[in-house]
Amino acid sequence: MKNIPNNSILIVDDIPTNIKVLFEILNQAGFRVSVAKNGKSALEKVQEILPNLILLDVMMPGIDGFETCRRLKHNPKTKDIPVIFMTALSETVDKVKGLQIGAVDYITKPIEYEEVLARINVHLELRRTQLKLVQEEKMSSLGQLVAGIAHEINNPVNFVSGNLIHAQKYIEDLLKLLHLYEIHTPHPIPEIQAYSTQIELDFLKQDLPQLLSSMTMGTERVENIVRSLRLFSRLDETALQLVQLHDGIDSTLIILGSRIKATSIRPNINVVKEYGDLPLVECYAGKLNQVFMNLLSNAIDAIDELIDQVEANTNKQSPTIWIRTVVTSDEKSILIEIADNGVGMPQEVQQRMFEQFFTTKPLGKGTGLGLAIAHEIIIEKHGGTLEVNSSPGEGTRFVITIPINCTPVDC
Ligand SMILES: Nc1ncnc2c1ncn2[C@@H]1O[C@H](COP(=O)(O)OP(=O)(O)OP(=O)(O)O)[C@@H](O)[C@H]1O
Ligand SMILES: [Mg+2]
Repeated sequence: MKNIPNNSILIVDDIPTNIKVLFEILNQAGFRVSVAKNGKSALEKVQEILPNLILLDVMMPGIDGFETCRRLKHNPKTKDIPVIFMTALSETVDKVKGLQIGAVDYITKPIEYEEVLARINVHLELRRTQLKLVQEEKMSSLGQLVAGIAHEINNPVNFVSGNLIHAQKYIEDLLKLLHLYEIHTPHPIPEIQAYSTQIELDFLKQDLPQLLSSMTMGTERVENIVRSLRLFSRLDETALQLVQLHDGIDSTLIILGSRIKATSIRPNINVVKEYGDLPLVECYAGKLNQVFMNLLSNAIDAIDELIDQVEANTNKQSPTIWIRTVVTSDEKSILIEIADNGVGMPQEVQQRMFEQFFTTKPLGKGTGLGLAIAHEIIIEKHGGTLEVNSSPGEGTRFVITIPINCTPVDC
């Protein structure tokens, strides 16, 4: 996978020569560097653009480094940015205090070129690993939760649907018996006649079988949902399996059901499925579900974002996600298209969207890992391809291909 890290660093120092030296070192090493001359302006800067790491001078007039760090750690938006303190060798500062406030490291001035780069890289790497673990943990706990719920629902539903079959048979028998009575006792006693009228017997005889069949349909639906939840929660299964990809897509749609439904600001999202006749595919089913999950949630986000942008009541296309599957013409792969009529993406975003941690979403909403993970799963794990076609205002179309027989090196 293309692994271009997000690499913006904010230097906070009040001494211009310090800034200059650091700026040059970091710039040459390929980092995107921004500068703040004091604590106050650093705190303002991070509100506009969140850096991936902050180099913070301790001794500064006004809000000093410790206080700046404390405020950064206090704000949910900035609290996770790694902070490295800088101190001059001649200064006696309480290093423990800085670490207690939440800094991850110290470097001493004059700056040692190799040392500063090494430390910065260690902390950026750690932060990345941490975010990736959080994403994996999120998927795996979602899988466990879903598996748990599916399991809990399964028993009572089986109980109902199993008994419904018998109930249907018993009711049929009783209705037949009633019918025989009616034939052979055409003039029942007044009490029976009165009761038949009271319970609207004719309607009841007609309605009861219909009622039972809609109950059966209801339990079938619940059983389907449970099946989908179980399919979805195969996240931890690591072996290659022969699977029907439509099951994975459908189960993911069920998990996302509540996000697809109408909200106060938009109607239901239409999901248009054009499923081809697909053979079973040898793949990592749980991993592919993760891809569907990431692409479909991005599509929902993009639709919601468009609704946010467009003025209320403007006449526009109804929000739609299209999912098309087909066997490629050489019959070697499956092609899956997931398209939406959301905000779309400008070229700059398309160029960077597969990078780890690249996101245009507000902090806390996106980690910028969804597509990086999807890319890894499709390309490296399955030897497939993942392409995009998008432009702002025109929506987005992702096209995945997956070999039917998984033979690449990695498999
Ligand atoms: N369907 C889409 N429509 C418009 N923009 C998209 C779409 N899918 C992805 N993007 C853009 O690509 C960026 C990266 O997507 P990615 O899924 O990797 O991260 P994210 O959605 O921002 O965060 P995460 O998935 O980790 O929660 C998004 O922030 C968004 O700008
Ligand atoms: Mg995403």
